[in-house]
Amino acid sequence: MKLDSAKVKKSFEAGGVVVFPTDTVYGIGCVYDDEDAVKKIFVIKQRDSNKPLPLLLSSKEQLPLVTDDKNIYADALTDAFWPGALTLVVKKSKNVSDVITCGTATIAVRCPNNDGLRDLIGRLGKPIIGTSANISGEPSITKYAEAKRVFADSVDCVVEGRCTDNVPSTIVDVTGKVPKILREGPITADQVKEVISRIKDKKASTKMKIAIGTDHRGFGLKEELVKYLKETGYEVLDCGPAEGVTVDYPVSVEKVAKAVQSGKVDRGILICGTGLGVSIAANKFKGIRAALCNSEFMAERCRLHNNANILCLGAEYDVDQKAIVKIFLTQEYEGGRHQKRLDMIASFES
Ligand code: RB5
Repeated sequence: MKLDSAKVKKSFEAGGVVVFPTDTVYGIGCVYDDEDAVKKIFVIKQRDSNKPLPLLLSSKEQLPLVTDDKNIYADALTDAFWPGALTLVVKKSKNVSDVITCGTATIAVRCPNNDGLRDLIGRLGKPIIGTSANISGEPSITKYAEAKRVFADSVDCVVEGRCTDNVPSTIVDVTGKVPKILREGPITADQVKEVISRIKDKKASTKMKIAIGTDHRGFGLKEELVKYLKETGYEVLDCGPAEGVTVDYPVSVEKVAKAVQSGKVDRGILICGTGLGVSIAANKFKGIRAALCNSEFMAERCRLHNNANILCLGAEYDVDQKAIVKIFLTQEYEGGRHQKRLDMIASFES
């Protein structure tokens, strides 16, 4: 039996459980809104009753059936990789039964790169459950003969066909502030990160104001960064100096720190020869978390863990300063366990 046969469609419509080829591995599924059929899948697969099931969609157009969240990362990732081997974890809508999600508030969704399967889901007019067709804990199945051997007696039909990738999909969770890659598959982590970084850039530059200041040692770098920030779309408050004359760094620190403190700008950038003087001075201002960064890793961590609001740069380091600035401005704070520590730091100020 092939995916386009009327019998396969009828099996789904009648609440049947079907084993079918996808672009990754063989899948087992049923229509997503038939709880009895969904329960049968747990039994047939001997799946842990606490392990949610994923859905397959005919296209991005079916997303509103299963989630109310207008997520910009989901939007960009589906544009880039659907149909294909990317599963997204999104917030579920009330249309999705708790039986599928095991009571959790999220649902994993994917649009397979298999014309016949997408066409079938489109004709059904609703998503289907699509989890790997194997007995839990056993290897994934990619061949019809094996799928038939394992499932012929326990499901309503086993569909003939070929899997192309033969590897389970990449999974990205977009429900938090920061998208998380949960499993790397045929779509690499770098490909996913590239799309995420484009969105972060766009998101940050459309609304952020940045104050920047330096002493004489960082004047050239400040001029370069002001140009870069303006070209990227940020609003810039240049706290000087306006020319490369000798300036004691605390003068610029006071201007930038006060602009951040008062909310006049969203974040600040301070430069001196080593970055040490400006970071020491900026951290004397209440509410300022200034981080001296001379690598992209430090820039990422100072945002994720420390919610740094001022980036301090040493003009004399031979590093990619623009890349550091870009990460500092686009990386969101992770919150969670880190907040308690930031509250402890804030308590030192009173
Ligand atoms: C200025 O000579 C220099 O001390 C300053 O740029 C900075 O490196 C201080 O930490």
